[in-house]
Amino acid sequence: MTENTVLQLGNPLLRQIATPVTVFNSPEFLDCLSSMQTLMESGNGVGIAAPQIGVAMQIVIVASRPTNRYPDAPEMPATILCNPQLEILNPTLVKGWEGCLSVPGIRALVPRYQAIRVRFQDREGKSQQIDLKDFPARVFQHEFDHLQGLVYLDRIESSRDIVAESEYLKLIAH
Ligand code: NI
Repeated sequence: MTENTVLQLGNPLLRQIATPVTVFNSPEFLDCLSSMQTLMESGNGVGIAAPQIGVAMQIVIVASRPTNRYPDAPEMPATILCNPQLEILNPTLVKGWEGCLSVPGIRALVPRYQAIRVRFQDREGKSQQIDLKDFPARVFQHEFDHLQGLVYLDRIESSRDIVAESEYLKLIAH
């Protein structure tokens, strides 16, 4: 079932393990993609995963672009990744700020691999691969975790790495 809002932390559907997409271009699949895009854009997000709208399917969208939530994000075309598999290209863990449409009001520093390769199927089911580094790699790893029922707070090193969004906005103000 597709929700009209992004599910919030505490909703058990966020802790489900997503299963692979097997039928592409079904009405359910297309409806899910369209809801994901709408809710990501209305929330000024740079990514979203199907479990966040209550659909336990392996679909994520990565859409790095500068927004008021991520003013320094690089511009890249919105990419739909189905059934993604992650390969680590650079195992260096880099801490950076993350937020989540399912966890409003706070930000935290999260360690992520610096560079990755992702093998996935596009919205037509065709096999693709993409290499990502830095912020887009971070966004993907964040969304990929949602497919495993994880949120970014599960990845932080210390509760001291969590801040209120209002304090985060002061930190990034130049
Ligand atoms: Ni998230």
